[in-house]
Amino acid sequence: MSVLVTGGAGYIGSHVARLLGTDAIIVDDFSAGIETRVRGLVCEQLDIASADAQHRLEALMRKHSVTAVVHLAARKKVGESVEQPEWYYQQNIGGMANLLAAMRSAGVMNFVFSSSAATYGMPDVESVSEDLDCRPINPYGETKLIGEWMSRDAAKAWGLRHVNLRYFNVAGAGWPELADSAVANLIPIVFAALKAGEKPKVFGADYPTPDGSCIRDYVHVLDLAKAHVAALEYLRSDTRPHSTFNVGSGSGSSVFEVIDVIREVTGQNFEVDVLPGRAGDPPRLCAQVSRIEKTLGWRTEATLTDIVRSAWQAIS
Ligand code: WQD
Repeated sequence: MSVLVTGGAGYIGSHVARLLGTDAIIVDDFSAGIETRVRGLVCEQLDIASADAQHRLEALMRKHSVTAVVHLAARKKVGESVEQPEWYYQQNIGGMANLLAAMRSAGVMNFVFSSSAATYGMPDVESVSEDLDCRPINPYGETKLIGEWMSRDAAKAWGLRHVNLRYFNVAGAGWPELADSAVANLIPIVFAALKAGEKPKVFGADYPTPDGSCIRDYVHVLDLAKAHVAALEYLRSDTRPHSTFNVGSGSGSSVFEVIDVIREVTGQNFEVDVLPGRAGDPPRLCAQVSRIEKTLGWRTEATLTDIVRSAWQAIS
């Protein structure tokens, strides 16, 4: 029952691979992934957007009798996608096209796709349902929505069975050695500032929210990895519809609330610099999670404090 995990040496991918164990076949170009995270697993260094990727992926799927693919390999920096849209399309859409073509040739019919809340753009709602119109506001979010369309079209053309998982804000560490090494999101950025003896920055305190800072739905990376396992089990055992699921806690936390939890966990009563809000930041982005709870039987187990504590312990 081998499962090919693209981006499997990445922060999220390595947590999925850890849960799958030796069933996981890792594909990663190590541009962001770290090989030591997947020591002991079958692992192939491969850029899925490269010219020979389709052929190499098909051969790997046949060699290891792969029955499902979990696809996480993608460029995922919003600002970078705005500056280099062509590269994002070439990497994220081109890579996915190679992967789906290889799956079709190798007869691999089960697919879990790492999508994102960025597909929603800036919805003006308390919480987001999967039925909401998706209006992404940056090329990164657009590549994730197009990826969902590609899965849908493959399902129509040759019967691919797929699940799209729209991640909300992922953080924490299931195992210290698998911690997020990128300093690209709120919690690791604040930690890096504290380690450097600098004041963390809060982007905006005049949003239409209770404390003026942006609200996000934080989910522990281990809970997220478990959602992938639940999606694989669903694909193997169920034919019900609903192939797209929000993956979040269903409740929101503001930036100031996260800062307070970081103060509590680190024991540091630090000050912050409040700066103007970032362009493109929605005031609130929280998931409705009834569909994944009802269909996959999955829900978050970790609290925001668990998330922050696990991330802090991993770098302390
Ligand atoms: C969270 C909040 C910032 C840093 C991004 C992607 C999204 C998904 C998750 C992949 C915002 C504020 C941040 C800082 C701050 N990735 N902030 N000070 O922007 O919600 O989502 O990551 O799927 O697609 O867009 O995450 O962690 O950057 O920001 O005040 O130093 O924290 O303004 O309100 P975001 P984030």
